[in-house]
Amino acid sequence: MVTLKNQAELDRMREAGRVVGVTLRRVAEAVEPGVSLAELDAIGAACIKEQGARPSFLDYHPRSAPTPYPATLCLSVNDVVVHGIPDGRVLRDGDILSIDCGAEAGGYHGDAAVTVPVGQVDDDAVRLMTVTREALSAAIEAAVPGGRLGDVSYAVEATARPYGLLEGCGGHGVGTAMHEDPHVPNTGRPGRGMRLREGLVIAIEPMVIQGGGDGGRTLADGWSIATADGSRAAHFEHTVAITGDGPVVLTA
Ligand code: MF3
Ligand code: CO
Repeated sequence: MVTLKNQAELDRMREAGRVVGVTLRRVAEAVEPGVSLAELDAIGAACIKEQGARPSFLDYHPRSAPTPYPATLCLSVNDVVVHGIPDGRVLRDGDILSIDCGAEAGGYHGDAAVTVPVGQVDDDAVRLMTVTREALSAAIEAAVPGGRLGDVSYAVEATARPYGLLEGCGGHGVGTAMHEDPHVPNTGRPGRGMRLREGLVIAIEPMVIQGGGDGGRTLADGWSIATADGSRAAHFEHTVAITGDGPVVLTA
């Protein structure tokens, strides 16, 4: 069931989104060679708490996962596309790191992700991150009242085209639950799918794979999804409200 949010609800979602945006920036600023994923997770946890909010991911337990999610952030390095669990792994010069953060404030969730370089990365990594960020921007521009969900999906697919996408994964509605309807596929056809209406809030999240699209593989921890071909991946995500004034990024 798709829920549309009124202005008061969007104001509260803006607050949850702000917490996420601030936290992502704080964590990204701490990224450097030598820092561990566990240290970054602790920074994220403290930042969310300090703002009077609660991490959305911690203890989240969908039917598809064997165990509840054990951390505040998802931290995914190089060939890990999404849902990497922060551990003692130490970041090295040349790595790329996806930081995914969800927070709940006032009963509403925000969900966003960025991929950042660790120290000096090669040109291929820069291109991959740039294309993924551009795919998100193009999709956000398509999130307007009167458009169709397929316009958003197609914008991701078309922009990411020189690379490939993590098959079967995509974005989702966001509200009082972190994952609401509709599912927002990263591939689609323009003019098809659900009509976009004012008050719809969706997380758009391209997951782009350097070696071309694949279905990924789940690692032994039951959560981390890595590329099947071992190549690197990038992930960017924003929670976006569809309004009469156009798309509003709540997690900026
Ligand atoms: N942005 C991710 C998603 O929508 C965050 C979920 S991580 C989880 O799938 F740990 F909470 F599952
Ligand atoms: Co999400």
